[in-house]
Amino acid sequence: MNHPVDPLAGSDPTLARRIHALCEEGRDFNHDFDTRVRQDQWHPFVAADYDGVRDALIALRAPGRRFLEWGSANGVITIMADLLGFEAFGIEIDPALVRSAAALAKRTGSSARFVEGSFLPMGWEWAPEDGDRRTGTIDDGPSGYLLLGRALEDFDVVYGYPWPGEEPMMLDLMRTHGSPDAVLLLYDTERGVITYRDGVEVEPE
Ligand SMILES: C[S@@+](CC[C@H](N)C(=O)[O-])C[C@H]1O[C@@H](n2cnc3c(N)ncnc32)[C@H](O)[C@@H]1O
Repeated sequence: MNHPVDPLAGSDPTLARRIHALCEEGRDFNHDFDTRVRQDQWHPFVAADYDGVRDALIALRAPGRRFLEWGSANGVITIMADLLGFEAFGIEIDPALVRSAAALAKRTGSSARFVEGSFLPMGWEWAPEDGDRRTGTIDDGPSGYLLLGRALEDFDVVYGYPWPGEEPMMLDLMRTHGSPDAVLLLYDTERGVITYRDGVEVEPE
């Protein structure tokens, strides 16, 4: 079996260990969530491959950069961004997951912030050319940006894990409300993390 190479292992072993422990705790949580919640009812939370997201974030980190996770679930990725030096925030619509994420941040000594709400900004509407305005698994709710005290355009790096077919919506959201200089990272189960700048797929940094 191939083990992914941790790019931090040589340069910052302490940080590498912290992130490894965080991801292990996240995987345990996800396993428990699958048996406790998903076995009985459908839930939109499935987790990305943490090693792939970690590598994408390492390539983008720089002092003062602000990170937002759309649908932050158990909090692992937002906390990882915080540990890597981003000012990191997560918006999640499921209140139980928001509580779990905040508790994980506390246990891991992270100052990542989580709010309950929708990552869809107030007033934004999905209006694709084909007229199909359904938003897939993305739920309705009060927008989380007010609680964050930040707008989508305030973030340098935004990350989301769309279910199949939801990518155009996330790209439109970023195009209409994000900063034109920001990077959008979208996780894809087949291709891993895909990097977009100004709506266009680019090579990872
Ligand atoms: C596919 S999971 C991704 C979880 C995590 N971001 C990751 O990559 O491992 C999508 C998450 O988005 C949340 N979600 C769905 N609609 C939302 C909305 N409008 N605002 C915020 N979170 C939402 C779900 O509850 C779920 O936790």
